[in-house]
Amino acid sequence: MVLNFMIYYRKCLEMLKRTKNCGELRKSDVGSDVVVAGWVNSYRDHGSLVFIDLRDRYGLVQLVFDPEMHPEAHEAARKLRSEWVIATAGTVRPRSEGMGNPKMVTGEIEIAVAELEILNVSKTPPFEVDNADKVNEELRLSHRYIDMRRPEVLKMIETRHKVAKLVRDYLDENGFFEIETPMLGKSTPEGARDFLVPSRLYHGAFYALPQSPQLFKQILMVGGVDKYFQIVRCFRDEDPRADRQAEFTQIDIEMSFVDSDDVMSMNEGMIAKVFNEILGVEVALPIKRMTYKDAVDNYGIDRPDLRFDMKLKEISDIAKDTDFKVFSGTVEKGGIVKGLCAPGGAKYSRRDIEKTLTDFVADFEAKGLAWLKVVKPEDGGEITLASSIAKFFSDDQKKQIIERFDAKEGDLILLIADKEKIANKALAPLRVKLGADLDLYEKDALEFVWVVDFPMLEWNEDNQRYDSLHHPFTAPLESEMGKLDTDPGNIISQAYDLVVNGSEVGGGSVRIHDPRVQEKVFDLLNISKEQAKDQFGFFLKALEYGAPPHGGLAFGLDRLVMLLTGTDNIRDVIAFPKTQRGQCLLTDAPSLVDQKQLDELNLRTQKHLNQISEE
Ligand code: AMO
Ligand code: AMP
Repeated sequence: MVLNFMIYYRKCLEMLKRTKNCGELRKSDVGSDVVVAGWVNSYRDHGSLVFIDLRDRYGLVQLVFDPEMHPEAHEAARKLRSEWVIATAGTVRPRSEGMGNPKMVTGEIEIAVAELEILNVSKTPPFEVDNADKVNEELRLSHRYIDMRRPEVLKMIETRHKVAKLVRDYLDENGFFEIETPMLGKSTPEGARDFLVPSRLYHGAFYALPQSPQLFKQILMVGGVDKYFQIVRCFRDEDPRADRQAEFTQIDIEMSFVDSDDVMSMNEGMIAKVFNEILGVEVALPIKRMTYKDAVDNYGIDRPDLRFDMKLKEISDIAKDTDFKVFSGTVEKGGIVKGLCAPGGAKYSRRDIEKTLTDFVADFEAKGLAWLKVVKPEDGGEITLASSIAKFFSDDQKKQIIERFDAKEGDLILLIADKEKIANKALAPLRVKLGADLDLYEKDALEFVWVVDFPMLEWNEDNQRYDSLHHPFTAPLESEMGKLDTDPGNIISQAYDLVVNGSEVGGGSVRIHDPRVQEKVFDLLNISKEQAKDQFGFFLKALEYGAPPHGGLAFGLDRLVMLLTGTDNIRDVIAFPKTQRGQCLLTDAPSLVDQKQLDELNLRTQKHLNQISEE
């Protein structure tokens, strides 16, 4: 290693300057002298010849070291190991007959190396870059700089960069200003837990990291900025999931003197441009719209996956008269019976249904899953339903159920009897699971929909009060204003979400710009005047100084890039992501800090307090 280090050090003084990258050489470059630099991807010593595949961000190229031609370079090449960093000067030549590699874009050529410079050595890496996708994610993330050398990871990084650039260009062309808003601020009400930052100058006081720039962007509208955007980091202290990180990025947008149609059409233009430039897909504009009610009735959820049909249907009217007590009893108690018909699902074994699928819905609080296979009777008559519970249904009831689902032979009808909320909560993911398991859609299908007409408020049973379905700054439809005093639970708001393949990639609303309406809404949300003043006083005050009508939305940049790259793991699209447990394995954050730092902040941890009490 000392020797190598010496080579490295000496050579540094006269570093070869790269003239070409590893991915760009082709047959047309044959005969030219080039310098390439990169990492040793693979190494083959054939005794006489040494072959190296050299890798950089742009691709791979084969290097050949021939002792007959350049003995010094050949000798040095024999010392090379995986991930050493080198620069080489040599001549591009065609590969020998039959030695081409059609899988490599540079597969028709190789570089006959005359001079080798070792720029740096590497410890033996914990995994090979080529096999990184087969090692566990924790090992990859703790050595993200090696993982990142993979073309797949670099591609994600490139796509993310391109999306950000397209967004900036589009919004700039349409008159938007990119404006930064504070990271150290006051708690914002997006409904998640805040990350707090203690203040050194004001002991006991805390900044909150922004859950979104919601209030600042509205204040920018009051300030006459007219069109704002920001590609901005947001922080929500909630458990990470496959499509959720505590620290994520929004494309945040706000516009003045607009209605919801203006916001949606400006933004779908941007989305169409992004999908077109990145994937070559034509998004049909305007993007179709679906009401919240239709989404929940037909798909059980406000972010329907429209790549396949398989709508949910309610059969409470049929179920209430059956002899199956689970059904009739549930309807009697005010619940519903709702389900779906999985095409070709009759192939599932009874065990698959009664164990796997039933366990699946149980995770969403469903107490059971009734199943009915659509079969042709042995005597060849009309299709009918077969199941351990089929005996509880009359022939006519079976027929009605078949008709309701438009069921065909070989289908499987699955039903849940429960409170409407629970039936939907369990059936929505069941539908998505079956859609994937039964191959009901093309892998690269993209289905866009705006979900609109959300209720403004949602009754929170546990806390016996209303919550905002979006956030407390969402305006009611003009026509619904009258219900603020009389029927708040049924107010339809001016909110909209953009849903793609069942993922909520963006959401926003027209805002309340009248301080009296805003106060009224706080009131409905059980936020007292004092609380409102304390938390949002600055904002309510701004509304009193000539707030224009305004609205906007925010897209989840990470989720957009997930869709554009076809991954279902949000960590894949973030250069330095956190794990499911909220850790950064590269830096080991979060970590304990020096007592001195805590002292400056006048903070005591439990550990410290325990120490004091022991002394
Ligand atoms: P909302 O809370 O719906 O709206 O967030 C907007 C979009 O951000 C994405 N998103 C996330 N992505 C990854 N990880 C998370 N934890 C996460 N949380 C949200 C989603 C979502 O659609 N201020 C409002 C927007 C507005 O009204 O203008 C807001 O933040 O794709
Ligand atoms: P049981 O009467 O509990 O033996 O259930 C008979 C069948 O009805 C089983 O297939 C259960 O999964 C199903 N079942 C039980 N409760 C429900 C429910 N709430 N909704 C739908 N099916 C149910």
